Amino acid sequence: MLAPIAGYCDLAFRIICRQLTAPDGKGIGLACTDLLSPQGLLRGSATSLDLAATNDLDKPVGMQLYGADPAMMAEGALWAVEHGANVVDINMGCPVDKVTKKDGGSRLLCIPDIATEIVRACVRVLEPHGVPLTCKMRLGWFNDHPVAEWLAPRLVDAGACAITIHGRTTEQKFQGEVNHDGIARVVQAVGRTHHGPGPGIPVIGNGDIRAAADVLAMMERTGCAGVMIGRGALSAPWIFRDAWHLISTGESLPEPSDEIKIEIIRSYVDLMARYRTEQYAMVQIRRRITWFGKRINGGACKRLKRAVSEAADRAEVHSVLDRYLAGEFRGGRDWDGPTAAPRAADSADSPIYAETPALS
Ligand SMILES: Cc1cc2nc3c(=O)[nH]c(=O)nc-3n(C[C@H](O)[C@H](O)[C@H](O)COP(=O)(O)O)c2cc1C
Repeated sequence: MLAPIAGYCDLAFRIICRQLTAPDGKGIGLACTDLLSPQGLLRGSATSLDLAATNDLDKPVGMQLYGADPAMMAEGALWAVEHGANVVDINMGCPVDKVTKKDGGSRLLCIPDIATEIVRACVRVLEPHGVPLTCKMRLGWFNDHPVAEWLAPRLVDAGACAITIHGRTTEQKFQGEVNHDGIARVVQAVGRTHHGPGPGIPVIGNGDIRAAADVLAMMERTGCAGVMIGRGALSAPWIFRDAWHLISTGESLPEPSDEIKIEIIRSYVDLMARYRTEQYAMVQIRRRITWFGKRINGGACKRLKRAVSEAADRAEVHSVLDRYLAGEFRGGRDWDGPTAAPRAADSADSPIYAETPALS
């Protein structure tokens, strides 16, 4: 599954990831919108509506809601179904002050009665539509006080159909290594494992998956039924295809050629312009080129990245990409070392995650 990454996994990017799955369409089970404010959706705020936009190429799609008022969350869930959601997800993992101060996101891990009441209220409105409710959570708030393995069974009793677990605590934010043992404990508490059918619900493991082999490692170490990939997909949106191939055949696929990667960038810019605006496409590609560039020419493509980020408009981006394919912007002292870690603060579109610190 493609993780929600506010300000990154927009409709255009979700479609790119889906188009890069295996030829039979397998690889991505589900992709998710950014976290959405039910109040914003119900008010018809332009930002919320843009973030919730989906279409027929973007299926199945989850819409993720955040908040702490069960009645409002249920209204948001109904709105999501009426606007194309195949799954509604509740955010129980966001560590950002703006969200947790109002008891939303990972703060719900500390107020289990409200968390379960939100699930119950949403399931009540979703059930008649046959739309499942899922929860995405962290291991707990404090490092020394895991909550997820205790809370998950209560959420399942309240009607949650799947749990995604990011193997970190709120205190950790995005630092430190993902805790596979913590994910395994949630699988043991509620999970149906990938080893075979059994009681329980699917638990989806999340955190630090960068390559197809990491998917296998996550599944082996935790027993989770599936995985969700966020940052790893930003520079390698073909990771879902690679992982599916590895799981189903035991073989690794070769890395796509640089020509294919350039075409991916081209399609991405065009899709952003089609589904949002020219200006949005340009703002996004200027920062996203750093991510794509990590995997072009082994990361040594400083001149290409600079030319794309300095392009005045989409036609110029296309021209830069054409010229790169024709051999320009190559050679010389091009290696600029590992590219800087993405900063959520770079996000043009994510009022919430814009406040998170630099990511490791
Ligand atoms: C910039 C940024 C934005 C994020 N936005 C969301 C979000 O809207 N909803 C959510 O549940 N998680 C969000 N996450 C967390 C990711 O979905 C994921 O749990 C986390 O990045 C770990 O997975 P990864 O190592 O595969 O990226 C965000 C993470 C980052 C870095």
